[in-house]
Amino acid sequence: MAFKSTLALAGAFASTALAHGTVTGFVTDGTYNQGFLLDYYYQKANSGSFPDIAAWYAENLDNGFVAPDAYGTADINCHKNAQNAALTSSVAAGGTVDFQWSTWPHGIGPVLTYVAACNGECSSVDKTTLKWVKIDESGYDTSTSTWAAQALIDNNNTWTTTVPSTLAAGNYVFRHEIIALHGAGSANGAQNYPQCFNIAITGSGTDSPSGTLGTELYSADDAGILFNPYGTITSYTIPGPALYGSGSGSGSGSSPTTTAASTTKAATTSAPAVTQEASTSSAATPATTSAAPSEGEDDSDDDSCEAEETTTAAATFVPTTLVTRTSTAQASTAPTSGSSTGVALYGQCGGTGYTGSTTCSAGTCTVMNSYYSQCI
Ligand SMILES: *[C@@H]1O[C@H](CO)[C@@H](O)[C@H](O)[C@H]1NC(C)=O
Repeated sequence: MAFKSTLALAGAFASTALAHGTVTGFVTDGTYNQGFLLDYYYQKANSGSFPDIAAWYAENLDNGFVAPDAYGTADINCHKNAQNAALTSSVAAGGTVDFQWSTWPHGIGPVLTYVAACNGECSSVDKTTLKWVKIDESGYDTSTSTWAAQALIDNNNTWTTTVPSTLAAGNYVFRHEIIALHGAGSANGAQNYPQCFNIAITGSGTDSPSGTLGTELYSADDAGILFNPYGTITSYTIPGPALYGSGSGSGSGSSPTTTAASTTKAATTSAPAVTQEASTSSAATPATTSAAPSEGEDDSDDDSCEAEETTTAAATFVPTTLVTRTSTAQASTAPTSGSSTGVALYGQCGGTGYTGSTTCSAGTCTVMNSYYSQCI
């Protein structure tokens, strides 16, 4: 077993290193509720169970996010292999929910919150039938040049959503999400981090808006998904259906479409999706070599995400909980595309913990922040 343990430890370290994308606690009208901890994944693997909580279970362990090529799968609902939370917390219509993220490293991207009525017990509802109503969204503030994700970081890694006072009382799954866009200038480069919670809404509201199936929320080539965030941003279109109460259909879905085989298409149609100026090479960048290895293969998606999970990961890892999960996590440590010819345009070329090539085959390696440099 010693041999196995060594392997398992390596795998566990690698996977835990990617554990930054979780809401570790949430507060409903001032009451603290336990969020899902990665430790629970290991507890479940080792003992078969973990504490009953009101946050959904998810295996966001390997590369930690849902990529655009998985928008058509059930994982887009509540993250990878999500399973219903056993308990339900509650909030009054008109009240607030604070979502407390583990230390969040990605300051580029929108923050969104959805609810879906369970029409029964949320502990047993089929996630693929949930219809999401967007109740809160925040993208890019051009007046302050600030992304919602950065505002979240600046607010103690916490986001507060106000529950619309008009929503009918009942059991809901709340779906809170950050979409990280630091690599979204390339096809399949956006990173969705959804997290789900069972929360009953109380009060006297009567509105039961229709929603949008998870698999119809986003498309890989949405203007707010395939988006180069570098350079001067003049506008940003938050993806997903209309915001509830915005007067344009109360959450009835407006952007179905599919996701399959979108990589090539997305690349060739990137020009209209990018609404920004100044970046000389931003328009119509035909699928650079970085796009190719990303296609249909999750492991390469996380390259740009992997640099920042450094010391926090080691600090929170509990080495006694060993699990043999290996290949995905280990594969994710492989350097980015083109180590021989250099990193393609928009690829990562540096940052804390980054081990890939620092030479750009196109563009110049530019420091975006301490944990992410990019060829632009
Ligand atoms: C910051 O968030 C943590 C949870 O992530 C919480 O325990 C702590 O109380 C928060 N601090 C403040 C000042 O709100």
